[in-house]
Amino acid sequence: MEILIRPTTAQVATLAADILSEYVKRGATLGLATGSSPVETYKELIRRHREEGLSFAQCRAFLLDEYVDLPREHPQSYYSFIRNEFTSHVDIPDNLVCSPDGTSHKPWEAAEAYERSIVEAGGVDVQILGVGTNGHIGFNEPSSSLSSVTRIKTLHPQTVKDNARFFDSAEEVPQHVLTQGLGTIARAGHLLLLATGEGKANAVKALVEGPVSASCPGSILQWHRHATVIVDEPAASKLENKVYYRYTDEHKPEWQLH
Ligand code: F6R
Repeated sequence: MEILIRPTTAQVATLAADILSEYVKRGATLGLATGSSPVETYKELIRRHREEGLSFAQCRAFLLDEYVDLPREHPQSYYSFIRNEFTSHVDIPDNLVCSPDGTSHKPWEAAEAYERSIVEAGGVDVQILGVGTNGHIGFNEPSSSLSSVTRIKTLHPQTVKDNARFFDSAEEVPQHVLTQGLGTIARAGHLLLLATGEGKANAVKALVEGPVSASCPGSILQWHRHATVIVDEPAASKLENKVYYRYTDEHKPEWQLH
């Protein structure tokens, strides 16, 4: 894994946008996360689109997850969130921004159909990820099968609590979601995980330096052939090998530089 530590949230976003821009220029299939972690990166990509002509016209996108039974037009549905925060501000074709159908009366079938659609599109080239305070990626909560595919999951009470900030109260947070599985996520060509703030320090420590375990779903990045973790100083504060990560970051061979 590449562990890249930057002093500020803004620098995390700039670096993530640098990496993603290279994929965008190639017309890649982007894997998009919602939640607060990638929002600054999305803002920087929107800025590059407006001011520097970065075009998403040849790209398509798949979201990681969606709440079950939340209408699409609800501002906190991930269908709406990604459009409001990112995709409606760039030139990616809207019909190619795909997400699981959380409103389906047959969520299991919707999950299977979503998994199939990712495979039929040729897979995701670069997958943006955030991490939950409990180590989840997507909504693969602790104990998720390491080779799971898109399916319906019950949110962990900690996740409901964490996500209550987006709703008027914790009672309004849906209890169920459709999420890409850990096996689905692992098939993406490049995993790019972003984490900022002290609240993520334990999760970052567990996923980078802990054992690969269903207790910390984010630890599957350790198995992946191309995983990049970009964190700010507070999120990196519990990492033991920080000195080495900084050293490798500064001494990258030329071919590794984007
Ligand atoms: C969102 C997602 C989640 C979030 C995670 C972190 O699509 O899949 O795994 O990335 O819960 O959320 P934030 O970024 O809001 O701290």
